Amino acid sequence: SERTLVLVKPDGVSRGLVGEVISRIERKGLKLAALELRNVERSVAEQHYAEHASKPFFESLLEFITSGPVAAMVVEGDNAIAAFRQLAGVTNPVQAANGSIRGDFAIEVQYNIVHGSDSTESAKREIDLWFPGV
Ligand code: GTP
Ligand code: MG
Repeated sequence: SERTLVLVKPDGVSRGLVGEVISRIERKGLKLAALELRNVERSVAEQHYAEHASKPFFESLLEFITSGPVAAMVVEGDNAIAAFRQLAGVTNPVQAANGSIRGDFAIEVQYNIVHGSDSTESAKREIDLWFPGV
């Protein structure tokens, strides 16, 4: 099986969608291997989104991710990375399919409720960052 790093971002937490996201993960057949509600230090946010450091939205994204608690989790199962990305839907919520988390609950590209690792390399890097030792 495979592991992926999932975040319910501050918009999802403040809107009370943590249970909804966890429920969809569990109904899919994936398992929680770690789970924690936490405030995000700027240095963690910078490392997490390092690939976007040169993008015009980087500063805005860092402010958003550090604006309130996130629910961070390690999710495990066969093809967990692709399976969760499918549950999440594409990045821009107005293009995300109905029935996906972003398609069902979001409108704006920045405020898209969840993060999921996009590759095995990203998953390893992100799990080491958020849950060292897990
Ligand atoms: P993550 O799982 O959060 O990494 O999303 P993703 O892999 O679907 O998208 P990507 O890594 O390209 O972008 C990371 C995050 O930056 C997105 O989830 C959005 O929250 C935000 N983002 C992406 N594109 C834009 C944009 O054009 N404008 C703004 N303001 N935010 C963006
Ligand atoms: Mg990404």
